[in-house]
Amino acid sequence: MSSPSQTPDATPEGQYFSAAPEVDSDPRVLELSLPDLHLRLTADRGVFASEQIDTGTKYLLLEAPTPPAEAKTMLDIGCGYGPIALSLAARQPDATVWAIDVNERARRLCEANASDAGLSNVKVSPPAEVPDDLRFDRIYANPPIRIGKSALHELLALWLDRLAPDGVAYLVVQKHLGADSLTRWLDEQGWPAQKLSSRKAFRILEVKARS
Ligand SMILES: C[S@@+](CC[C@H](N)C(=O)[O-])C[C@H]1O[C@@H](n2cnc3c(N)ncnc32)[C@H](O)[C@@H]1O
Repeated sequence: MSSPSQTPDATPEGQYFSAAPEVDSDPRVLELSLPDLHLRLTADRGVFASEQIDTGTKYLLLEAPTPPAEAKTMLDIGCGYGPIALSLAARQPDATVWAIDVNERARRLCEANASDAGLSNVKVSPPAEVPDDLRFDRIYANPPIRIGKSALHELLALWLDRLAPDGVAYLVVQKHLGADSLTRWLDEQGWPAQKLSSRKAFRILEVKARS
């Protein structure tokens, strides 16, 4: 049984990180209210946090530093229906926010949500279609911890090595899902990582580019 602060990964509806969820669609509108913005987001079965905005995601959006004006290219690893990517895009209208996800239904929702919110600076893409030469000034993510440790390490290594030299990533991770050991692993691999903020079950990790 999951605690209320935890969005389950595998439900009777299937795993949220399937490429093509088999469960029938049942869209619903969720409200994301932050001190500086409000978004109406359509979610659906077969995507992460389909019934309510994830607590960790909201914590990241409340506590991680707002992207600075010079952050022109940003990335959300595992965008789902878009709460992080769209918030970044709203906070920095001059930036381009790449929103990637393996889940096709999530990508379609994210694209539609960006369009409904009038955010033309969100680029939704399968991971493999992000241009190779792009470098990111900021990465913000609620990463898919439950894909397993080695898959997660591979995923983070792939994208953290695409931070710009002075780029920074902010990751929200649940403490009981290994936030502290992930911080140590990142640091050992050469990405300077530290705990930026900690509240109840969550940690926000700040990770810098590897030199
Ligand atoms: C914890 S959820 C966060 C979703 C969304 N950002 C939010 O805050 O509601 C992680 C997301 O990562 C996606 N994902 C899983 N494996 C991935 C991969 N290899 N590359 C990109 N996204 C992936 C999942 O489909 C899922 O939508």
